[in-house]
Order: sequence, then C-alpha cells, then structure tokens
Amino acid sequence: MSEHVLEVSGLTKDFRGFVAVDDVSLSVRTGAIHALIGPNGAGKTTCFNLLTKFLTPTAGTIRYRGEDITRKGPDAIARKGLVRSFQISAVFNSLSVRDNVMRAIQRHRGESFDFWRSRKVLGAGREKAEGLIEAVGITRLANTPAGELSYGHRRALEIATTLALEPDFILLDEPTAGMGIEDVERITRLIETAAKGRTVLMVEHNLDIVSQISTHVTVLARGRILAEGDYATIAANSEVIDAYLGGGHG
Ligand SMILES: Nc1ncnc2c1ncn2[C@@H]1O[C@H](COP(=O)(O)OP(=O)(O)OP(=O)(O)O)[C@@H](O)[C@H]1O
Ligand SMILES: [Mg+2]
Repeated sequence: MSEHVLEVSGLTKDFRGFVAVDDVSLSVRTGAIHALIGPNGAGKTTCFNLLTKFLTPTAGTIRYRGEDITRKGPDAIARKGLVRSFQISAVFNSLSVRDNVMRAIQRHRGESFDFWRSRKVLGAGREKAEGLIEAVGITRLANTPAGELSYGHRRALEIATTLALEPDFILLDEPTAGMGIEDVERITRLIETAAKGRTVLMVEHNLDIVSQISTHVTVLARGRILAEGDYATIAANSEVIDAYLGGGHG
C-alpha cells in the first residue's frame, strides 16, 4: 500500500471570481486521522465538498489510491471505499437502531429482499449488525426507533451505518458540531474506534478533539494552506495563532 491514500494537488474553487479554495495541495497518509482546521470562512467546507464531489473543482486533481477521481461522482467514489459520513448514511426515524444498521448492511451487499428471506443469510447480517451496534456503544438502544435517539446516540448510529459500508476512508464533516460535552466525549472515542484500520479526514472546529486524536493537521486560512504538521507543531506556529485571533475562532 502506498504511503498516501489521498493526494490532492492544486485544488482550486472559484465562485464567480471569489477564490474560496486557492491552490490547495495535501496528502493524507494511510491510517491517519487527519484534521482540516482554520478560522471561519477559510474554505474548509468548500474543500470538503470538493473532495467528496459535492462540488466540481475549477482546477486541480484528486487522486485516491493512485487513481485520478477528480471527475468521478459521489456514488462512484463511495464504491471505491471513500465514504462521507452523515451525508450518505441516511437514518430512518421509524426504524429501530438494529433495522437501520441491517438496512445499511443489506444495501452495501446489494442484496435483494428475496435473498434476505433466507434465514441463514439474515442471521449473518444480524450478527454483523449487533457487532457494529456494540462497537458504537448503543447495544441497549438496539430496539429503539432512531427518531427517539438523543443527538449523540443518533450520531453513533450514523457511524454504525457508515461502518456497515466497510469504508477504507471516512470523511467526517464537523462530527461534534452542536453537541453537549458528554456526547462530544462519546463521539471522540468513537472516531478513534472507527479509525482503526482505516483513514479518517475530518473538518473539526473543536481544537480539543483535534489535539486529542489527530495524527496530522492542515490549517487553512483564506483558501490557502497556512501550516501543516502534528497538533503541537501547528499550535506553536505564530501565523496560525494570528489567523485564529485575527479571523475569529470558529
Ligand atoms: N456557493 C458559494 N458561492 C460563493 N461563495 C461561497 C460559496 N460557498 C462558500 N463561499 C465563500 O467561500 C468562503 C469559504 O467558505 P467555507 O464555507 O468553505 O468556509 P469554512 O472554512 O467552512 O468556514 P466555517 O468555519 O465558517 O464553516 C467564504 O467566504 C464563503 O462565503
Ligand atoms: Mg464550514
């Protein structure tokens, strides 16, 4: 396996003359928890939308496992194992936690309903579902309808349905946004669990979390890369400190 699973080169997004992402090049190391941070308006979300193909770049290339995926759509890259959580994995409110995870497994396998009527196959799917539900710590809520879950538990379920797709690479878009402290803790631990044997790229405003779990950090400011390195390195960078103090702390 190559050292870098995702390689972005010269990524640029021009919104009618306003350059929101300006010549960004970054590489995500296989197995990393790589954080993309920066002050408000830095271009993080735009960058993420370019990587997950919600937006088309004005210029630049995106390579995944050595393959140019710049012109590929979100579904095509999801099939290659590059999955954006909280977008692709819709949760059905009326279904129980278990049935939501079962559905995700079924969809991933591309199985028909008839196939699933075979008891043996159903049993195998159920075992996998129980394992995923346990991994995200919501076993006692397995029979609860998703619509009745707290915000943090719902996010846990979303991670379970994302993992059901067996992604190699997970993109997390502000995974703890809007959460209370208890849920933030839970999701932080969960990201660490989900990252085992995978690569994670996340946009995260909460620098506590970034300092706790990221292996690499890229700092964006005004559409450009300002600094890169481990958290200690970027936290000591005077340009980074200035950008946060001057640009408002996101
Ligand atoms: N569709 C669009 N059309 C025009 N300008 C846009 C569009 N989307 C984003 N921008 C501008 O691009 C810049 C970067 O926005 P972006 O949302 O990527 O920043 P961000 O780093 O995610 O900020 P925040 O931390 O506030 O979420 C901003 O100035 C924003 O106003
Ligand atoms: Mg944003």
